[in-house]
Amino acid sequence: MEVIMIVAVVNIKGGVGKTTTAIALATLAARKGHEVVVLDADEQSSASLWAWNAEQNGKPLPFSVESANIATLRRLKPDDPRLVIIDTPPTGKITDEATSVSDFVIVPTSPNSIDLQQTSAVADNLEEVGKQYAVLIVRAEPHTIALKSAQEYFREKDSSVFDAVIPKRADLGNVYGQPFGSNLYGYEDVYKELEEATN
Ligand SMILES: Nc1ncnc2c1ncn2[C@@H]1O[C@H](COP(=O)(O)OP(=O)(O)OP(=O)(O)O)[C@@H](O)[C@H]1O
Ligand SMILES: [Mg+2]
Repeated sequence: MEVIMIVAVVNIKGGVGKTTTAIALATLAARKGHEVVVLDADEQSSASLWAWNAEQNGKPLPFSVESANIATLRRLKPDDPRLVIIDTPPTGKITDEATSVSDFVIVPTSPNSIDLQQTSAVADNLEEVGKQYAVLIVRAEPHTIALKSAQEYFREKDSSVFDAVIPKRADLGNVYGQPFGSNLYGYEDVYKELEEATN
């Protein structure tokens, strides 16, 4: 990513894969030699604990994770030399702030219909305020009707969606607290699209 930027990972639905997405994309950016930081705006501290556990196990993440509050986010400068990825809690003022200070918003969602409704509300809001964003379908079972109808749903609504889809993979849960290995579970394609969308 040549353009230095602020990316927020947001969805009002909890447990959809926001933190996993933030850590995976930061890993890819770091591996490409970019200076990247994950700002943990969630008081559950999942991203910070992920980094801390990795450190404790002697295998630190290849970027730093810093906790962030509303003031931290407001202080971010457009000329910050780092790629900043903000992990957010499902709702609250800090999520709104993260959205507002970001150049691009990633909205991860599972393909199931309850998640889709909530995701669609988030996408509509972003559309309304003119924020650059894309929905990312995660936890997808390839070649299922659920996946096809989710893609169809967003296409009909004319929402912005990543072509790349992250499959549902139980072993992805085991990466929590460790750095990613060589398997990035499809996030490498998401990263490429993010680069294309923001260049
Ligand atoms: N593609 C996937 N396949 C299977 N499991 C996944 C996938 N992505 C994430 N998970 C698992 O789902 C759970 C929730 O993921 P994660 O913590 O990234 O979501 P979140 O949106 O950040 O949650 P919260 O709203 O609590 O912050 C975790 O146990 C994670 O390992
Ligand atoms: Mg999280």
